Amino acid sequence: MIIEPKIRGFLCTTAHPLGCEAAVQEQINYVLKAGPIPKGPKKALILGSSTGYGLSSRITAAFGSGAATLGLAYERPSEKGRTASPGWYQTQAFERATHKAGLYAKSLNGDAFSQELKDQAIEILKKDFGQVDLVVYSLAAPKRTDPKTGVTYKSVLKPKVAPYTNKTMDFNSGIVSTVTLDIASPEEVRDTIGVMGGQDWELWMDALKEANLLAPGCISLAYSYIGPKVTQPVYRNGTIGAAKDDLEATAIRLDEKLKASGGRAFVSVNKALVTQASSAIPFIPLYISLLYKVMKAKGIHEGTLEQMDRLFRTRLYSGQPIEVDEKNRIRMDDWELREDVQSEVEKLWEVITTELIAGQADITGYRSDFLRLYGFGMAGVDYTTEVPDAMV
Ligand code: NAI
Repeated sequence: MIIEPKIRGFLCTTAHPLGCEAAVQEQINYVLKAGPIPKGPKKALILGSSTGYGLSSRITAAFGSGAATLGLAYERPSEKGRTASPGWYQTQAFERATHKAGLYAKSLNGDAFSQELKDQAIEILKKDFGQVDLVVYSLAAPKRTDPKTGVTYKSVLKPKVAPYTNKTMDFNSGIVSTVTLDIASPEEVRDTIGVMGGQDWELWMDALKEANLLAPGCISLAYSYIGPKVTQPVYRNGTIGAAKDDLEATAIRLDEKLKASGGRAFVSVNKALVTQASSAIPFIPLYISLLYKVMKAKGIHEGTLEQMDRLFRTRLYSGQPIEVDEKNRIRMDDWELREDVQSEVEKLWEVITTELIAGQADITGYRSDFLRLYGFGMAGVDYTTEVPDAMV
């Protein structure tokens, strides 16, 4: 079949297997070109390993320091006439590339929040792997069922203090409009923490410890975001921010637990980037388009892979003490939040309108990154050629 992008709002309902493979290979090539990370991880468990920051973490661990990886993700296989989700193809492509390179890689597809998946992962680790020296927690999900209580939480993106109105952009049309988000109820705040807070990360770490699967010196990482002033009321001071506060508090608790065996736990605060999770959030596509414009002009733009490669190479495994802020967080958003970057983005935000989008924002870069998430627009892929059914 010929596969073309079919965009519905902030989603693309098709994905290109060869384009997804090319995207994975491009990331692998970047790490290989940057050279080995000698003190890097050797056995890594990556939760949320199929796309975005999790996939880039997995690629950096595998191709930077030859790590064996067990990856978990929740992706959709293809059905008759419908392509699989991009993370499905990317996982397959990653496994093919690692096996070709003689590295161990295994992946599980299912709900990482469930006890069943935890049990399966632990079984595989015990049988094939032994103790892990890196655990990356990079899940981004709209809902979670607590395996202990059976309660299902749904996350929402809302302010906590007052309704919030600001500019937003439809990245398909480039139209800038104004949107208001209503204030969250206390239940919505609690539920969002239930999905994106630290509870599940801690359950994973406790289960791994209980099974004696954490190597001495093991590092565990989860990812957070802070962002600019303009998204503060709705993001960092909103429901998702409350969940990130919980995640960061969990990191401090886990750090104390792991220190006993020479290990560490951190939250890494990463840069805003186009991923499936972030394209669904109002205000963020406009902010990212302006941010890309400014950071690219300054030569300091990074994608998920560049962020993770820099995190591993210069922070976690540099051989130097790991630099953290006053809340024990690693700051990979250091370039995004640079004073000169933010003041330029703020000035652009003030004046931006639909008419100015093409010139003042990097909407082309945003759209291109969005399509690449689904394997479209990759160099070297002929999109006019039929993809054999066996590959879909
Ligand atoms: P993403 O949408 O690209 O990846 C999410 C991953 O979670 C995928 O592998 C998906 O299959 C997996 N997943 C979702 N539900 C699952 C479930 N129930 N069981 C197993 N796997 C499941 O997301 P992205 O953006 O890479 O986010 C990862 C983390 O990074 C999140 O904590 C996010 O808040 C954080 N972050 C993202 C930033 C951004 O701009 N994209 C910026 C800073 C932090």
